[in-house]
Amino acid sequence: MAQHVRGVIARAKGEPVELTTIVVPDPGPGEAVVDIQACGVCHTDLHYREGGINDDFPFLLGHEAAGVVESVGEGVTEVAPGDYVILNWRAVCGQCRACKRGRPQYCFDTHNAKQKMTLLDGTELTPALGIGAFADKTLVAAGQCTKVDPAASPAAAGLLGCGVMAGIGAAINTGNVGRGDSVAVIGCGGVGDAAVAGARLAGARRIIAVDIDDRKLEKARSVGATHTVNSREADPVEAIRELTDGFGADVVIEAVGRPETYRQAFYARDLAGTVVLVGVPTPEMNIELPLLDVFGRGGALKSSWYGDCLPSRDFPMLIDLYLQGRLDLDAFVTETVGLDDVEEAFARMHGGDVLRSVVVL
Ligand code: APR
Ligand code: ZN
Ligand code: ZN
Repeated sequence: MAQHVRGVIARAKGEPVELTTIVVPDPGPGEAVVDIQACGVCHTDLHYREGGINDDFPFLLGHEAAGVVESVGEGVTEVAPGDYVILNWRAVCGQCRACKRGRPQYCFDTHNAKQKMTLLDGTELTPALGIGAFADKTLVAAGQCTKVDPAASPAAAGLLGCGVMAGIGAAINTGNVGRGDSVAVIGCGGVGDAAVAGARLAGARRIIAVDIDDRKLEKARSVGATHTVNSREADPVEAIRELTDGFGADVVIEAVGRPETYRQAFYARDLAGTVVLVGVPTPEMNIELPLLDVFGRGGALKSSWYGDCLPSRDFPMLIDLYLQGRLDLDAFVTETVGLDDVEEAFARMHGGDVLRSVVVL
């Protein structure tokens, strides 16, 4: 029987979100219905509401979530009712050229649930990032559920579903930060701070946080930055070089997504160092660099998609490290709010006061 539950939707471009009744069908083959326990409020939800992603309104918002599997459809073997899971955007296919080469983290043919959740009048909803978890329950592809230790609090665990995983993964997966490395992180919002935490976890020796806001720098220190640079007051390239014996950092993580900060990242790394772009640029942005510098400085210029994470590998591992006190995911939860507080949480996010507001159900 399809269920009627509460969900937060964006009905039309720019309009405030609303809490309404949605219809969640029973899971079909390969699908699962998940009882949501917590879901973080992310910039991407706001982008959906503003029409910045596509025009497939109405959207069912929310995508950084943890919960308990309520029921599964035919043929589902990876999870079972009662499993405590973190949701990810996309289930990997196992068949495409990336999957076949043993690189499922790059799967080029990921999928979500086939059935649609709807409004009471039958209008089909588009779930944000194929999840839609500002709701009591949501329908996903079973492969979007990754089982983790239920001892982890849902508010902290859910964050691994998106921004925090992107940042940690930018450091530990894409940047391949290792013991003794020097790392600089430009932009210390939720993603950048997670990159700082990831660099600490990986054994970085110096972690230099760069931002234009002193409040952000203070927070970055609390999650592991050893040095901070306010790039409004000092040239960040110079400052990073000074803090790395004049050479630059081994790995520089750009977590803003702008040409000027990418340029800083490019020049703030040591010879043969790595730049990781995890900030997401917009279509009109361009960058020009001397090709001789691209060649002459060597190393690697990489982009990090979702932290190059493989949920089945990374989520349970990071949850275990969290439970052992080695990764402070709680530091990313600024406040917990209710399902009817999403609109106000957007406003606070805009003001830069919070790393993450998390809806707890
Ligand atoms: N130099 C340094 N820091 C900057 C600059 C700049 N020119 N401009 C902005 N920042 C800082 C902000 O002060 C803020 O602390 O970058 C940070 C961005 O943080 P958030 O807005 O909270 O964004 P976050 O959720 O961390 O995401 C960062 O990653 O996944 C992408 O789409 C996401 O592009 C975004 C980026
Ligand atoms: Zn694939
Ligand atoms: Zn997100």
